[in-house]
Amino acid sequence: MEAVLAQIEAFKAEISSFTANDAAGVEAFRIRFLGTKGIVKQVMGEMKQVPVEQKKAFGQILNEFKAFAEARYEALQSASQQHATDESLLDYSLPGDAFPVGARHPLSLVRNQIVSIFQRLGFALAEGPEIEDDWHNFGAMNLPEDHPARDMQDTFYVSQNPSWLLRTHTSSVQARIMESQQPPIRVICPGRVYRNETISARAHCFFHQVEGLYIDEHVSFADLKQTLYYFVQEMFGKDTKVRFRPSYFPFTEPSAEMDISCLICGGDGCTVCKHSGWVEILGSGMVHPKVLENFGIDSNKYTGFAFGMGVERICQLKYRVNDLRLYSQNDVRFLSQFKGAL
Ligand code: PHE
Repeated sequence: MEAVLAQIEAFKAEISSFTANDAAGVEAFRIRFLGTKGIVKQVMGEMKQVPVEQKKAFGQILNEFKAFAEARYEALQSASQQHATDESLLDYSLPGDAFPVGARHPLSLVRNQIVSIFQRLGFALAEGPEIEDDWHNFGAMNLPEDHPARDMQDTFYVSQNPSWLLRTHTSSVQARIMESQQPPIRVICPGRVYRNETISARAHCFFHQVEGLYIDEHVSFADLKQTLYYFVQEMFGKDTKVRFRPSYFPFTEPSAEMDISCLICGGDGCTVCKHSGWVEILGSGMVHPKVLENFGIDSNKYTGFAFGMGVERICQLKYRVNDLRLYSQNDVRFLSQFKGAL
């Protein structure tokens, strides 16, 4: 008697957890529990063994068990019919749900274009950390402490430990490359940089740079000019004009800034080029011998050039984005305009 009751409980558990997705599943349930050789019939057969005085109570349990199985059968049946009806109500001629496809961020598009142009010239890709130490961001780049040129870049320091800072330029990656490799070195280093500036249409507290470094024997300023000239033609088209202006960076000597003819107004003058017809796109120069020596590179044997450009500026010229804040506001009306761009 006890054993049969335990069996009934186990069958009840099985019945409750039985699922059926279609008519075949429901039929399988019927055969197992309610069929002529099914479990309910089988359990009913136990009645014979039961002593007379317990027959009434046991009969009640059996009837309940049977009703339990039948109720579950009905529930499964109506669920599967419901399923079938839902299917038949589907209107396959209705337009489908729109499946929105994302777009690459314009800064990623432009960075990828810049990197691939230099990769065609044999530059390898290099990246470095955004949280830097003073040495890699400044010291090694020939900006010792109290060097006035440090004021050129307003630095964010990590408050818990002011010997850490957010890199102000990707020149810190140059430092890390020279630290770990001997010439010939030919790398292109894209990355995000940070400066403590008030956010406006023209300035932001973070932006993106791509830096290049080329060190080998006999590398000259002519190589620098030709490399950058090739870059401009590939990036902006064959008609784009280029000019170099003498400049100053502590880590290069001589240094130059490079302008290109304004793509917005074609050189006639507009607000982007401040009515000069030219826009500055990068800083460059021959790597300062002191920087080479900082990394044990023999400056009598090796020379090199370096350059650094702002990705936002290039993007502004290519896609006419005139407010820097648009890049980080995540507004899909802005971002979706770059769908399909490569
Ligand atoms: N690091 C400079 C800047 O952020 C750019 C630069 C890189 C200039 C390499 C010269 C050579 O302004």
